[in-house]
Amino acid sequence: MNAYIITGTSSGIGSSLARNLLSGREGVISISRNENTSLNRLAETNNSFFRHFTFDLSQTDKLPELMDSIFKSLQDVNPERISLINNAGTIEPIGPSGKMDATRIEIHHKTNLIAPAVLINEFIRFTRPLKISKSILNISSGAAHNPYAGWSNYCASKAGLDMLTKSIAIEQSSEEFPVRIISLAPGIVETPMQEKIRATSAGQFPMRNKFIDLYNNHRLSNPDEVAGKIIPLIFSDHPASGTFSDLRNL
Ligand SMILES: NC(=O)c1ccc[n+]([C@@H]2O[C@H](COP(=O)([O-])OP(=O)(O)OC[C@H]3O[C@@H](n4cnc5c(N)ncnc54)[C@H](OP(=O)(O)O)[C@@H]3O)[C@@H](O)[C@H]2O)c1
Repeated sequence: MNAYIITGTSSGIGSSLARNLLSGREGVISISRNENTSLNRLAETNNSFFRHFTFDLSQTDKLPELMDSIFKSLQDVNPERISLINNAGTIEPIGPSGKMDATRIEIHHKTNLIAPAVLINEFIRFTRPLKISKSILNISSGAAHNPYAGWSNYCASKAGLDMLTKSIAIEQSSEEFPVRIISLAPGIVETPMQEKIRATSAGQFPMRNKFIDLYNNHRLSNPDEVAGKIIPLIFSDHPASGTFSDLRNL
């Protein structure tokens, strides 16, 4: 059995990733504020290893304690390979700078950037003695490389995540059992995040009509199909460690 620690499993891409892995009898440790009870049921049916941790990732000072509990829960499992998937993310607050609430900006960066940075640090610390394959997948966005008015924090947090990927891959390249780390943009996927984007005003997000048109023309990807394409990449040599890729180009 392989073990996958996945953030943001209550909906969208994270839920699909967890469901796909549990269906294949892989071990899943899930983290989100809301519990996805369907995952519990699936794990029971399939007799797969599953633990859920109800946790708000913006509480970044408590993340080392969370990872300590997670690795304790894995003590008797001895996974063959282990992965951390930083999938949880928020696009909010959406709007032009000068009109956003300061606290919401802080929560955004804690959730999208600081939490992944701390989780990666703890993952590398806890897995250092393990002579097995180790992999980190950071779910990024095309917005990390293309500026959008109204998404300044989202573009910046995802760009920061990609730079973590690049820098940490260099550090790991000299390790005997290195942690592979990649960033992946999933494309435009029909999830609650896209619903939030479509519900904004043009004043908050001038490009909203493009996303409404894509939805009306059935151009959004299905999260289950996206999860099915992502999973084989986690322990593969391609794309190379330290790189950003768009799933649509792989
Ligand atoms: N959908 C797209 O078109 C698209 C495109 C590019 C990139 N992405 C990226 O894909 C990832 C998944 O997004 P999605 O589209 O699947 O969106 P989603 O359905 O809104 O899912 C977001 C997940 O993140 C979790 N989350 C958010 N804030 C959290 C917090 N403070 N603490 C713990 N968990 C938190 C949510 O769980 P709780 O609310 O239960 O905590 C939820 O499970 C994100 O990183 C997003 O930026 C999505």
